[in-house]
Amino acid sequence: MSKVVYLNGSFVDYAEAVVPVEDRGFVFADGVYEVIRFYGGKPFAAEEHLARLRRSAEAIKLDGLPSTQELMEAALETVDRNGCVNATLYLQVTRGPAPRKHEFPASEVPVTVFMIAREVPRPDAERVNRGVACITVPDIRWHRCDIKSIALLPNVLAKQQAAEAGAAEAIFVRDGIVTEGGSSNFFMVRGECLFTHPADEHILAGITRDYVLSLARKLQIEVREETFGMSEVENADEVFITSTGIEVLPVTTIDGKPVGNGVPGPVTKRLWQAFDDSISKL
Ligand SMILES: Cc1ncc(COP(=O)(O)O)c(C=O)c1O
Repeated sequence: MSKVVYLNGSFVDYAEAVVPVEDRGFVFADGVYEVIRFYGGKPFAAEEHLARLRRSAEAIKLDGLPSTQELMEAALETVDRNGCVNATLYLQVTRGPAPRKHEFPASEVPVTVFMIAREVPRPDAERVNRGVACITVPDIRWHRCDIKSIALLPNVLAKQQAAEAGAAEAIFVRDGIVTEGGSSNFFMVRGECLFTHPADEHILAGITRDYVLSLARKLQIEVREETFGMSEVENADEVFITSTGIEVLPVTTIDGKPVGNGVPGPVTKRLWQAFDDSISKL
């Protein structure tokens, strides 16, 4: 249980933190968010996450975001006050409380800024070594998946469907194109080459995705940010997914069919190892 949360400039006991019932986050899902990972008490790629938060806020015309420095200080303090070591920091900003009306409220309505830290262990090594199962689902989301919006109903439904099927993740397929996971980015390895969907409006440009692509380039693995369909994935040698929480996670079956020879492959392992090395150097 998180002891203290950050709410609009103050640190408040979890049980006492209150948001007005007509907050636009609650009524319209009118807000944006980030999840920042902490390892050994140190943030990982926090500047990149805060820059993406600002891009998401600008994309939905949400004004009044606190400065990046204020957000960074509040994030560090939230983690610190909760005594977290390996943790995730959830940060949400909404367009604030106002009588329900779709159009934006007057500019004097302040945004609601909320942060909560939770101790979360590194991914289970046995699970990483074994790999996970995924299912595919139609991508019924809107055409601005590049915005990290708190409106996540299609993702919620997809991930629930995966959980009910005993799978770790749901992979979205839009018009025959594999886009990304319900809360992760999707990669496949064919031959010597690493493929992932381009960072356009049909995926969230994951911070882990970017990091893994830069590791791949350093390891001289050829990278292609191109679209591909399930028929290509069916002939892939390796598949993995990435996110702030799962890091680099091998996928060994999709819709019940084995990926490659059904075990985590060498390219995935090299990238996982390189990712793990960079964390230990934090
Ligand atoms: C839809 C979606 N794609 C990709 C990601 C991965 O992004 P990141 O690596 O920044 O955590 C997430 C993370 O939650 C997500 O929700």
